[in-house]
Amino acid sequence: MQKLIIEGVHQLEGEIKIQGAKNSVLPILAASLLCGEKCVVGNCPKILDVDISLKIIEYLGCKTKFADSKLTIDSSNLSKNEIPESLMRKMRSSIIFLGALIARTGRAKLTLPGGCELGPRPIDMHLEGLRQLGVKITESHGIIECSVMKKLKGCNIVLSFPSVGATENLMITASACEGKTTISNAAREPEIVDLAAFLNKMGANVSGAGSSTITIEGTKKFYTIEHSIIPDRIAAITYMAAAAVTGSKLTLREIPREIINSAISIFEESGCAIKEYEKNVLNIISPERLQSVKTVRTMPYPGFPTDAQAIIMAMTTMSFGTSVFVETIFESRFKHVSELMRLGADIKVEGKVAIVEGVKRLSGANVTATDLRGSAALVVAALAAEGETAISNLTHLDRGYEDIEKILKSVKAKIKRV
Ligand code: UD1
Repeated sequence: MQKLIIEGVHQLEGEIKIQGAKNSVLPILAASLLCGEKCVVGNCPKILDVDISLKIIEYLGCKTKFADSKLTIDSSNLSKNEIPESLMRKMRSSIIFLGALIARTGRAKLTLPGGCELGPRPIDMHLEGLRQLGVKITESHGIIECSVMKKLKGCNIVLSFPSVGATENLMITASACEGKTTISNAAREPEIVDLAAFLNKMGANVSGAGSSTITIEGTKKFYTIEHSIIPDRIAAITYMAAAAVTGSKLTLREIPREIINSAISIFEESGCAIKEYEKNVLNIISPERLQSVKTVRTMPYPGFPTDAQAIIMAMTTMSFGTSVFVETIFESRFKHVSELMRLGADIKVEGKVAIVEGVKRLSGANVTATDLRGSAALVVAALAAEGETAISNLTHLDRGYEDIEKILKSVKAKIKRV
């Protein structure tokens, strides 16, 4: 079993180029199946979730080639519309293939997806929206079978919550529907805007992405295209937290400030200065000791991202004063707390609220990663902990971070994988 060994309390220094966004590339890879020809996806991060997506795409009969962060998907020979449970269980995002398969073949058979254990993660909004678009869906023994009844037909869909995955699935399917679809109360994340840009390049007609009403005019013809993935805002926040917790100065390249605004205000509240020297280049300058932050409440975009909650919590464990975290998106997203406590953090959890009393020092220990962003939180805390921390169960981390130890090493962190 691999472990990350981190020797803490060393300042970081240098520049980091932010990887392509995990949450953008996964739906875009699924959407590429609509093309029926070659799609080239640039700035593609080399992460485990992309590998799993490629296994699914190849299983379906398509060809893929990944070289120098450019991924080519040739979906001309797509020959299956079933995804086996072994692949579905490997990540939550496998559910995004549902909309794409229905749009391309009129049918899909798959099982419930896996992914991080953050509490129940139903897909009722995905299925309800697809039903409204004309898909007959049966669910039995965990298997979901879908077929288009007569034809896919655009309609008005109102989501009961701005679910990211449901918005994406419905955008993809609606792109191949006859007529116009309107998704109200749609998710507004930057990754939704990126998916819309990809679909539009391919020949779809999506407008309003980034607002809560998205309109899609369906089309029958899709074209071969090239598209570059937007930067990963959660990776950027992770490296900023690493700088903040070690009292360091870091430069981040290729990260638009506006997509991490809600996190920037938290960094500023904690005493860090964030400067944008040129477009998409941010400098973070951290004080010797961070201040606590009043209340961090996770919300759909443009609110504070749930994916950054654990990472920012790790940052506040050594700050001066009390910080409060309220998790409103997922039911069970405090699994990292007990591992942070092994490093000496003082955190109490009551339901959806975690209260962090900043301590003067953390000390290295053996910890186990519990989920993707919880793993990143452990890396951040370990960088500030005296002595050596060993983090095991790295599969979670590798699902979303490209070369995290190489990147941290390049900015002078003492980190190695054994
Ligand atoms: C995506 C992100 C994930 C992020 C999350 C919230 C990807 C690949 N993953 O996940 O990193 O943490 O958005 O920003 O982009 N829900 C339902 N029924 C549904 C769908 C969702 O009840 O049909 C609930 C979920 O259980 C959860 C909330 O809605 O409580 C938000 O989920 P959603 O926005 O769908 O998250 P994902 O798309 O799974």
